[in-house]
Amino acid sequence: MQDWIDKLFQEPQLLRMGHSQRLDDLNLGLGWLYYGLVRIARPETIVVIGSWRGFSPLVLAKGIKDNLETGKVIFIDPSLADDFWTNPQKVEEHFNSFGIDNIEHFLLTTQEFVKTEAYSNLKKVDILFIDGYHSKEQAKFDYEAFEQLIPPQGFIWFHDSIGPKLSTKVYGEDKAYTYTVYQFMDELKQNKNLQVLDFPFDSGVTLVRKLSDEKSLLS
Ligand SMILES: C[S@@+](CC[C@H](N)C(=O)[O-])C[C@H]1O[C@@H](n2cnc3c(N)ncnc32)[C@H](O)[C@@H]1O
Repeated sequence: MQDWIDKLFQEPQLLRMGHSQRLDDLNLGLGWLYYGLVRIARPETIVVIGSWRGFSPLVLAKGIKDNLETGKVIFIDPSLADDFWTNPQKVEEHFNSFGIDNIEHFLLTTQEFVKTEAYSNLKKVDILFIDGYHSKEQAKFDYEAFEQLIPPQGFIWFHDSIGPKLSTKVYGEDKAYTYTVYQFMDELKQNKNLQVLDFPFDSGVTLVRKLSDEKSLLS
């Protein structure tokens, strides 16, 4: 794993965007949580919405590859920040350069993805990672698009979720905005059918789990 992280961090862009990564001790930061949960839950299907250069889809896909079970990451990103995700061959090469071949990229917004056959064919999503446009409204849309596909043992991550941070200017000098994902987290925290836990490190991440009546988890 250390060799893999060493290779990952040779790309400086994968040290950005608030996941508490640190080069000096090859530390994935919050990525340990993403990776660790995949090793524990052994998901078949993960959906990731939004990523700058692929830190979260790569770390999640690496978790699946390190499990004995097979699985894949569906990565939805319309490349609104720049053209990084626009060329399918370059996207594949980017992921392959880290030994990762189990990410399927869709160059679409979530709004567009929900109208596709790929979406209709989804039977369940074991882990959902939401890191697209960081408004309360978009986070809610992303969550509601997949919520019914999350099984009782499933999990939902929200990145950039713990406070009203001013965004980077990835969408343009004049397109900075204040993140309001935390306001949607406040709403979810009122829902008695959910467990919601913040990890207040760097840009922060929140883990959500649906409560269920199933008592068979410890069997
Ligand atoms: C800049 S990244 C967020 C940075 C993130 N913290 C990271 O570590 O990579 C946000 C991504 O969300 C994508 N995005 C924006 N609106 C979206 C939408 N409606 N559906 C899906 N992805 C979206 C953008 O294309 C962009 O690549």
